Amino acid sequence: MDKAISNDSPKFIDRVDAVQKVTGTAKYSAEYDFPGMVYGVLSESTIARGTITAIDTKAAENAPGVLAVITHLNCPKLPGYESTAADIAKRPEINRGFRVFQDNIVRFSNQPIAIVAADTYERAVYAASLVKATYKKDESHTDLNEAMKTGKPVEGNNFKDYIRGETDAWKTADVKIDVEYRMPLEVHNPMEIHALTVKWEGNDKLTVYEKTQTLSSTQQSIARAFGLKNENVHVITQFIGGAFGSAFNTWPHSIAALIAAKKTGRPLKLMLTRSEMFTMVGYRPQAIQRLAMGASKDGKLTGILHEATAMTASYQVFTEGIVNGSRSLYVCPNVTTRYKVYPLDLSQPTWMRGPGETTGAYGLESAMDEMAYALNMDPIEFRLKNYAETDPESSKPYSSKFLKEAYQLGADKIKWNDRNREPRSMKDGDWLIGYGMGSGIFSAWRGDAKVSAKFLQDGTLVLQSGVTDMGPGTATSMTKLASDIFGIPPSRIRFELGDSNLPPGPFQGGSGTTSTLGTAVHNVCMNVRKKLADLVKDNPSFHTELIHSVKPEDLVYEDGYMILASDRSRKISYADAMKSAGIPQIEMLESSPSNPMANHTAFSYAVHFVIVKVHTATGVVRVTRVVSAVDAGKIVNYKTAESQIIGSAVGGISMSLMEEGVVDHRYGRWVNNNFADYHVAVNADVPKVEVIFVDKPDPILNPIGSKGMGEVGLVGFAAAVGNAVFHATGVRIRELPITPDKLLVAIR
Ligand code: MOS
Repeated sequence: MDKAISNDSPKFIDRVDAVQKVTGTAKYSAEYDFPGMVYGVLSESTIARGTITAIDTKAAENAPGVLAVITHLNCPKLPGYESTAADIAKRPEINRGFRVFQDNIVRFSNQPIAIVAADTYERAVYAASLVKATYKKDESHTDLNEAMKTGKPVEGNNFKDYIRGETDAWKTADVKIDVEYRMPLEVHNPMEIHALTVKWEGNDKLTVYEKTQTLSSTQQSIARAFGLKNENVHVITQFIGGAFGSAFNTWPHSIAALIAAKKTGRPLKLMLTRSEMFTMVGYRPQAIQRLAMGASKDGKLTGILHEATAMTASYQVFTEGIVNGSRSLYVCPNVTTRYKVYPLDLSQPTWMRGPGETTGAYGLESAMDEMAYALNMDPIEFRLKNYAETDPESSKPYSSKFLKEAYQLGADKIKWNDRNREPRSMKDGDWLIGYGMGSGIFSAWRGDAKVSAKFLQDGTLVLQSGVTDMGPGTATSMTKLASDIFGIPPSRIRFELGDSNLPPGPFQGGSGTTSTLGTAVHNVCMNVRKKLADLVKDNPSFHTELIHSVKPEDLVYEDGYMILASDRSRKISYADAMKSAGIPQIEMLESSPSNPMANHTAFSYAVHFVIVKVHTATGVVRVTRVVSAVDAGKIVNYKTAESQIIGSAVGGISMSLMEEGVVDHRYGRWVNNNFADYHVAVNADVPKVEVIFVDKPDPILNPIGSKGMGEVGLVGFAAAVGNAVFHATGVRIRELPITPDKLLVAIR
């Protein structure tokens, strides 16, 4: 970490956009209105696989207020789609993707088959219901269990086995387990539903207010599809009401809305329904994992076999690193990982908070708990016995690793050692009490980003970068960085984001935004400081016997002043520095490169402790306490960082006890595609969540010392809950979510 940042700076600032968010003045993508606005509503397929043989749009077209009904039969040609159609047809079916309204093929149930544009939302909904398609229906397959028996997995480089040492080593170990864990389909359900508002200007230029985690990719994919220049696609995303990976792609509904807006020549708004969130914007793929593990009697791991089987869409492969954590988290000479995915007739899955790692850590960290019990060891002692001091996969040193410290901090806080380790030994009336823990690992990295800075004579600073904020408070943490560097209050700093016209920032995701953008902000602010010092290098304010020409390192930057470190009575305000030099403002653009990390590997770590109680008569599980201890490097802004981890805990409680997407395999259709039936944790399900940060800077990854925390808070959490349920009841449930029906009989 750069010494420029004072250790005395406050630990956090409040969210810079808090008032806008809580008073409803923050504008989301569906909240822009223009004169002549029309509304887009999708019609969707009623079969999961087959072809559309006829589509009757007469009634819809004649319905009141309808301006256009677009299907594959009358869809205007998209230059980008036309020019690449032949290439795409040559690809294997599994990699052709789905381009809306380009053919009559039905790939999944509730696939968009038409879009209706009408002058009111209600009229559009009504007209869309009048579109009637006739199909040639093919047999659909949406059941992963069935596919594993009768189907063929996808082939390719992503599916090569990883083998370190001997695959079968676990089999001959003193102590071993061989178990299977199951995780269902889990659906992105951020509070803000995906939406966009589109306004074309003529045929070759448009502005789109779109829910996206990546302005530049959204800009590029729209430009490509419609054959436009990038700069003619203006993407604006001022606020996002939560996203966990669903807002990276430019999904078919967005392209459909763009087509309809162009066709009608009117500004158009399309907002998905909650049920459409289940089919239009991806989800976490279902996965079945086998964990076989062996250890010596004294608790040294001798073999790990981690096999994951997941699903993808029949038209688009999606892969994620489910098994990767098992190669890196513990020292073990013999590790084999295998990963397979089967194509199903469902819409395509996508990244979802801790993609891969979250799923994999559920398996690995549950298995570690099972092994600890098989060895009659404390689960933390077992983990410490196999603690990796260098990365076992790459043999490279870590940029930093303070997982041991996290174990200690978390265990102390929850009084881990005071519990009775014996399963089903702790009780409170009708409730069985259990303690559980699980660790998380997630890659830390740093990409490239541009940010501009404008320092004005009135002592205010404007920073700009084309990044979006899906919730964590990016503008706030960047403001905090700049505030510390200049020693000026956050109220004098404005961080502007959410607009593709700004200097291109990073995408928001992969737990890399703070590291990536924070580096750019740090660098540009340091350069502005140098420039300020330059302005006054011969200023008499600083002349002493020792210093005649002041250098940046001679100065401290506090309260809007440059102060001579060796004689604090000598100082000049930033404003006076600019005034005396006759400069109205300092403007700089920083291009901060990625850090390729050739000699190190970098991860963030977390350890989650939970206490549960399980009701003996009903099998109901309540999480009563959560302590998450996190090594995310130096914490940039404590308040928003803590909120990130609290949010992960809420997601983790949801995942372990409630979330389950159910598909009726007879029809390939979602059964519980609504919030009444797809359960997520609400306030009443969430206890006090205590967050502890190790808060030690990473010296390698970037100058701010921060790693990343967007995802690691969820990685390993579900295992902690499952492990606590085992400790409470003596019953191991190896399938999420852990619902009362699974426990009821077993715990009687
Ligand atoms: Mo995330 S899965 O990088 O939004």
